[in-house]
Amino acid sequence: MNDTPDIVLVHGFPLDEGMWADQVKFLQAFGARVFTPNLPGFGSRPGNPAHRCSISAFAEDIHQYIIRNCTPPCIIGGFSMGGYVVLSLLNRFGKDACAAILMDTHPAADSPETRQGRLQSISRLQSVGVKTLVDEMLPRLLSPAPSPQIRDRVAGIIERQNPIGMIQAQMAAAMRIDQTDHLHKITIPCLVMGGTWDAITPPEMMKIWQSKIGRSRWVEIPNAGHLSPMEAPDQVNQAIGSFITEITSAGR
Ligand code: MLT
Repeated sequence: MNDTPDIVLVHGFPLDEGMWADQVKFLQAFGARVFTPNLPGFGSRPGNPAHRCSISAFAEDIHQYIIRNCTPPCIIGGFSMGGYVVLSLLNRFGKDACAAILMDTHPAADSPETRQGRLQSISRLQSVGVKTLVDEMLPRLLSPAPSPQIRDRVAGIIERQNPIGMIQAQMAAAMRIDQTDHLHKITIPCLVMGGTWDAITPPEMMKIWQSKIGRSRWVEIPNAGHLSPMEAPDQVNQAIGSFITEITSAGR
């Protein structure tokens, strides 16, 4: 019998479950049940009412999804904004997680400059639509010289998003609270990884907060920018595979 816990992966902004295609293929071949829920307003999901558009409401939403669809405790992973959601979920519903994977993310709140940048992005979303996110985000998400194939795949995912959902998510990210003080309470095994060329959450920044989580390990993904799961899927999958093998054999 396969004793791998269910794996839940939460996507980042401005993407959807499509970003996990390579991980889903790998983890299914590994024999795991893998779930990649869309956050409210992303992919085919309608947005939440405005009062439910916050990182903590998104965490409640993912927790409800886990209760309805999975067998907790699960391995819960998140990329970037998905990592903000996972950290909030671990803080409040940690009993339903047996391990965590945090990719190209961080626990801090927005700086005033980043928040200001989001407000400007919202006004471009209102006037231009999601096309603006392709121009704004592609250079920030990918390494300095990405392949045309990866650029096209990422642009395709961004272009199919609903501008209203993107505006709500930008507001949610802008208003999120700092979760750094909760990191020491995470006692489950935790894999923290990020791309060498990540300009949004660089390795040096990630290693500082990772060291506050007791049972965590850091893995750097070479030849990848922020969007390491799509840019360097083999290395990311290998790190996830080793992590899962280790935690499942320790539990036997
Ligand atoms: C992401 O990749 O999810 C975003 O860059 C995160 C953010 O906008 O803070």
